[in-house]
Amino acid sequence: MSEAIKKEGIKAVAMKKNLSKTSRGTSIFTRAVHSGEEGVKYGDAITTPISQTSTFVFHGSEEIKAYTSGKHPRYEYGRYGNPTQTVAEKKLCDLEGAEDCLLFDSGMSAVTSTIQVFIKQGDHIIITDDVYGQTLRFCTNYLKRFGIEVTIAKTFDYKQIESAIRKNTKVIFSESPTNPYLNVIDLAQMQRLRRKFKGLMIIDSTFATPFNQRPLEWGIDLVVHSATKYLAGHNDLLAGAVLGSRELVDRIREYQRTVGSILSPLSCYLLIRGLKTFALRMQHQNQSAQRVADFLQRHKKVKRVFYPGLASHPHHEIAKAQMTGFGGVVSFWVNGDLKQVNRFLDALELIAVGPTLGGTESLLSHPATITYYRNTRKQRYQLGITDQLCRLALGVEDPDDIIAELDRALRRVDARTVVKARV
Ligand SMILES: Cc1ncc(COP(=O)(O)O)c(C=O)c1O
Repeated sequence: MSEAIKKEGIKAVAMKKNLSKTSRGTSIFTRAVHSGEEGVKYGDAITTPISQTSTFVFHGSEEIKAYTSGKHPRYEYGRYGNPTQTVAEKKLCDLEGAEDCLLFDSGMSAVTSTIQVFIKQGDHIIITDDVYGQTLRFCTNYLKRFGIEVTIAKTFDYKQIESAIRKNTKVIFSESPTNPYLNVIDLAQMQRLRRKFKGLMIIDSTFATPFNQRPLEWGIDLVVHSATKYLAGHNDLLAGAVLGSRELVDRIREYQRTVGSILSPLSCYLLIRGLKTFALRMQHQNQSAQRVADFLQRHKKVKRVFYPGLASHPHHEIAKAQMTGFGGVVSFWVNGDLKQVNRFLDALELIAVGPTLGGTESLLSHPATITYYRNTRKQRYQLGITDQLCRLALGVEDPDDIIAELDRALRRVDARTVVKARV
């Protein structure tokens, strides 16, 4: 036994050893593995443990006094935080370049809580029209009920956004890149607006992730993510995150203590595990998506491809200026009617059909029949959700296999014989 251990005890030595490890590396690949993980790990395990507990006990009245006087911050009750959650939050802070982070039990929890904290009756919020459908629904169907005025502005009409700003405008909420056409909001334009606007600017950066884009560096106040997607990355949990200054995130934390939308310790652990391979996955998914987009663009059974990495995308130049990669989602129009598109879907074997994105498995979504099935055809077409539109979220498979699968399935578009659907 070393002298230090004899004198100070195992716990103290382990703590010092970890705390002296100041170098987390400069690369996002290294930081995704190591950031946030300093500190003692039970039994010297290399991984962060799952603190599967609802509460944290005090060892006497002195400890209670130290805690309640604010001298000794510590955990108290599961709804107010958990050590596994802290590790995941610190890791995300480092990746996003944020001072603070707060996790939620879903992306929608992060979005709705973040907005609610900063508005009250009589306030006004501007939201761009190309955001995730449920975010828009929350603002139009629910916020309005509580006396909040909502303006839906055209996503890329910065003049319209600017002229919608009023004295009581507290929040401008936008998203980039957007779903399903991968439109990219110009962060330089938002930065320009930022100077004229006293309220908060919030960006949903789910599709980009901090690997490809860091909105806080462009003067955005808060970034939200559906961590369900690329951050966790394995299609096995739901989670959300908000990141920004300590002051703003603390206000949201106070709210969460009341509403209780916390992420479970197990999900926090899975998020930490997912984040360790985050940079590797993103690099691969960026590259795969570019290859698949190039391939689809040349395919005669594809009418049009939407990917910010293609020169043909209307926001290619903006994406090049503010993103380090173009993401893992490619949208395209199949050349055919709904019947023909269904033939294509039914012929897919390797690529799963369903909603969501950002996981290890490639997933193809057909928005018209999956996400927008409750809308009329007219409503869908007004939103650009045509029968031909498919959204492919690349997983971590070899892109050659995905390309072969797409080619085979696209050839079925004009086939007379029907391939049996996988039901
Ligand atoms: C851009 C975006 N934001 C937020 C959400 C909501 O996230 P969650 O499903 O984790 O609640 C989604 C879900 O698809 C999304 O695509």
